[in-house]
Amino acid sequence: MKAKELKKKYIKFFKEKGHAIIESASLIPDNDPTVLFTTAGMHPLVPFLVGQPHPLGKRIVDAQRCIRTQDIDEVGDDIHTTFFEMLGNWSLGDYFKKEAIEWSYEFLTSKKWLGLDSKRISITCFKGDKDAPKDNEASEIWKSVGIPNERIAFLGKKDNWWGPAGETGPCGPDTEMFYWSPNNIPAPKKFNPEDKRWVEIWNDVFMQYNKTKEGKFEPLKQKNVDTGMGLERVAMVLQGKTDLFEIELFKPIINKIKTISGKDITKANKQSFRIITDHTKAATFILGDERGVPPSNLDQGYILRRYIRRSLRHLRLLGVDLLSMDTTVELAKVVIEIYKEDYPLLKQKKDFIFDELKKEEDKFQKTLDKGLKEFRKMVDKDSQITAKEAFLLYQSYGFPIEMIEELAKEKNVPIDTKGFNKEFQKHQELSRKGAEQRFKGGLSEASEITSKLHTATHILGEAIRSVLKNPDIKQKGSNITSERLRYDFNFDRKLTEEELKAIEDEVNNIIKQSIEIKKQEMPTEKAIKSGAQAEFGTKYPPKVWVYQIGNYTKDICMGPHASNTSELGKFKIIKEESSSAGIRRIKAILE
Ligand code: ALA
Repeated sequence: MKAKELKKKYIKFFKEKGHAIIESASLIPDNDPTVLFTTAGMHPLVPFLVGQPHPLGKRIVDAQRCIRTQDIDEVGDDIHTTFFEMLGNWSLGDYFKKEAIEWSYEFLTSKKWLGLDSKRISITCFKGDKDAPKDNEASEIWKSVGIPNERIAFLGKKDNWWGPAGETGPCGPDTEMFYWSPNNIPAPKKFNPEDKRWVEIWNDVFMQYNKTKEGKFEPLKQKNVDTGMGLERVAMVLQGKTDLFEIELFKPIINKIKTISGKDITKANKQSFRIITDHTKAATFILGDERGVPPSNLDQGYILRRYIRRSLRHLRLLGVDLLSMDTTVELAKVVIEIYKEDYPLLKQKKDFIFDELKKEEDKFQKTLDKGLKEFRKMVDKDSQITAKEAFLLYQSYGFPIEMIEELAKEKNVPIDTKGFNKEFQKHQELSRKGAEQRFKGGLSEASEITSKLHTATHILGEAIRSVLKNPDIKQKGSNITSERLRYDFNFDRKLTEEELKAIEDEVNNIIKQSIEIKKQEMPTEKAIKSGAQAEFGTKYPPKVWVYQIGNYTKDICMGPHASNTSELGKFKIIKEESSSAGIRRIKAILE
């Protein structure tokens, strides 16, 4: 069974169980300051997991594209990638453990659905600790559907617990499903979670606790289910394979690398093939996103830059002459071909994708040789790479840190990564804290601040149109952290001091009027016809929410928002700059 069919079946199965289908959200979250990318299907749903009702009801199903940069070092083995699609079903305060587990089992094993061999399935459940008891409830349900005792293992928080996403918020035990992947070897009777041939394919999370500021775990009023099935991995086991890169979502990219390099896969170069495949796919998706960003030295743009540059270095390791063609563009074409039906935006944005890849390739090539020479000099000098030297390679030659690490490893010389990271943090934009420290307060608190900034964003959009007297100005991107909002819009010149002041005044004037923010649920078509602003490139579900701030703004938006403009405080623009050709960017704060 191909991944495409698997996706269809999953959605159909849960639709039959009363779940509403939602589209994959953007890879770049706009109202969650805790992460740079959407790392799981639950991320775009956080407001609904903490209590806000979802317009489509209490049961949701989707296929969400995800990026997990924290797995970057695992890329190279048989089953890890940083970009993947996650199939998920949610109960927002509706069904709980019994239905979730029984449906997982039914979908995996029923002949009508995946028809996987139940004798090759194993389970892990939470073993319990000082915060929460052993999840016997989950294991008993697994036994009742026919999983024998010796195929159920109990593990601690590290393996069988999910969340909270910040320091506080909803979280709970989970139960994971593993599949015995080797076709030609029978599955051992007893499950050993350490044996890598058991591949994790699905995770059912039971959000039943709220972690408080004091570190306590209190029972949640609204108990949720959040599940995540790895599309590529399940397609792999359905196809009887043990190498993820053999399935149709990767194979054409691998083949293209073979053609470009004229090399076959060997033990020695396998890792390069896989890194290039994963990274060029991730890069294509970041560029081709509705909130796509170009490579830069900041946030998502910096991760994108690392993906592209690391791919280029591995292409060189495979002996590819980078000057002979735009290699990453050639690979992006293959990625678009694979995904063009599920993600038509990739095709619509192909010129942007190709242009940015080409520009980045050219930029990097200009410094690559010089940087490599510098690197060799450093190694010859004292057989190590100091933090300062590593930072020079980063800043003057554009070498991403993992590339410097790889080079050092190849030469067998130590490198001061910690020192580099310190240096790196110092040089990042002041307002930007490290991703992991971005929001210590956790999601509930983050949600309050971001709600206000979110509302301010709507007002700002209208104030810009009004002051510049141009109704065609549209939002071209938005990003909210716990400190500020960032708003991109189409306009072809720098704004004057007076215009910025007028915009600021207009926003503050609306805030002062204490206008109530009204939320209305309506069919998407009707919402658009009624003149509500929609975000460019976003695929909306059939029913959406329309937020209205008096007669001032009307936007399609999934929220969350403040309930009255008076909550916002004072609005202040801190920066106006160019974002890319024809796009201006405003950063603003609430005081
Ligand atoms: N949020 C859970 C995961 O990503 C389902 O594994």
